[in-house]
Amino acid sequence: MRSANSVSPLLRSLSRPHGFEPLRVEGRLPESLRGTLFRAGPGLFERFGTRIAHAFEADGAVTAVRFDGGGAQGASRIVESAGYRAEERAGRFLYTSSASWLDRMRSASKDMAKTTGNTSTFLWKDRLFALMENGLLQEMDPATLETLDATGLGVVTGAFSAHPHRVASLRTTFNFGVRYGRKMNIDLYALPDDGEPSKLGTVEAPWQSMVHDFMATERHLILFVGPVQLNLLRAMVGLGDVTQLFRWRPELGARLIVVPLDAIHSPRTFELAPFWLWHFSNAFEDADGPCVDFCRYPEFSLGEIGEMESTGPLPLLTRVKLDLKSGTARETKLFDVPCDFPQVHPRLHGARHGTVFAQTERNVMDRNILGVTRIDLDRGRSAEWELPAGHVPSEPVLVPREASQDATFVLDLVFDSTTDHSYVAVLDGEHLEDGPLATVHFDQAIPVTFHGSFAAM
Ligand SMILES: [Fe+2]
Repeated sequence: MRSANSVSPLLRSLSRPHGFEPLRVEGRLPESLRGTLFRAGPGLFERFGTRIAHAFEADGAVTAVRFDGGGAQGASRIVESAGYRAEERAGRFLYTSSASWLDRMRSASKDMAKTTGNTSTFLWKDRLFALMENGLLQEMDPATLETLDATGLGVVTGAFSAHPHRVASLRTTFNFGVRYGRKMNIDLYALPDDGEPSKLGTVEAPWQSMVHDFMATERHLILFVGPVQLNLLRAMVGLGDVTQLFRWRPELGARLIVVPLDAIHSPRTFELAPFWLWHFSNAFEDADGPCVDFCRYPEFSLGEIGEMESTGPLPLLTRVKLDLKSGTARETKLFDVPCDFPQVHPRLHGARHGTVFAQTERNVMDRNILGVTRIDLDRGRSAEWELPAGHVPSEPVLVPREASQDATFVLDLVFDSTTDHSYVAVLDGEHLEDGPLATVHFDQAIPVTFHGSFAAM
């Protein structure tokens, strides 16, 4: 276990932000792999001589690797939001718990928040956005990674979460945003591939909580409210950092709120035993109601985000089958190896899937083995790319291949602690166990990234 004072190498600031430049390629990149991988994560862990309290409070960095059918170019830039620029001008923090209490309250009173974009990237209509849990969409230029303006696309009134989900068959991306107040409200949004975005409505949460991810199927939006409670008073008076604002309260149990797309104002709430989740893998409609798959933690922790190896409770891939007629929820464990950052083929988002890709962690003889794993749910099999010792994977990003309907390339941004640099591994999704087809190397370490996306651009 690491000492309390040691800093994970993944939690250091990006040392050299840069625009697109050629990257060193080892192996042979597939000719058919064309497009850009985008990743987002915290980018600055120290500013103005102060280390930030938690990765969730960091100004973001967006990293991109552009594949052109043989070569690759890479870029990594800090998200220079309006809030970031105001802080640069002031020479001090004005937002988050790193700011003085007075500055923090002044920003809050003007209803101003910093759009750090430190959690995920989102592509819609060839526009690139860096997202965070509680802010507007921070637009970036996909060609240069320069920071543009933050936007609510004309419909977002509060926040636009970092986990939008597209339902392939509906050609529509859905998302939610949380608004805290006397009650916690969850706003729901739809962004069609073609057409204008809209606000679908608002659902009232049973208590003030943290909502990180949600799910969308062809018929329902499904919200998770876990037994984690926000200390609203503490948040309002600007006391404490993000780790001190939320409390695990297992006695509350967990809720899955099923919102019919054709009856937004008539949600159904399912009560479950306490658990926590950061990420769903997918959801689909079954005969009696929706099924949701997610990585289930026995409890909530904000520690160790982005650390090299976990020491807290580990998550297991789990399915909950909801029965809309009887009002019951049945839970099944799907896979024995702890995993998170699960992904399914983009063609199957919101529809029945048989395969999940995820980041895995196994403990064998007191050694933690980190992997990128394909889990075949129907056949009960799995295949793993076991990373070399000291290499740390991130969320796998799936790129559909033309070879067959289910075939994918798997792109994974890996940190190699033995050489202190990061690289993207390009894997054949059907043959993960063979290791990368090629690797594409930055000349520096990229700080931890949480989520990303791929676009043929
Ligand atoms: Fe996430």
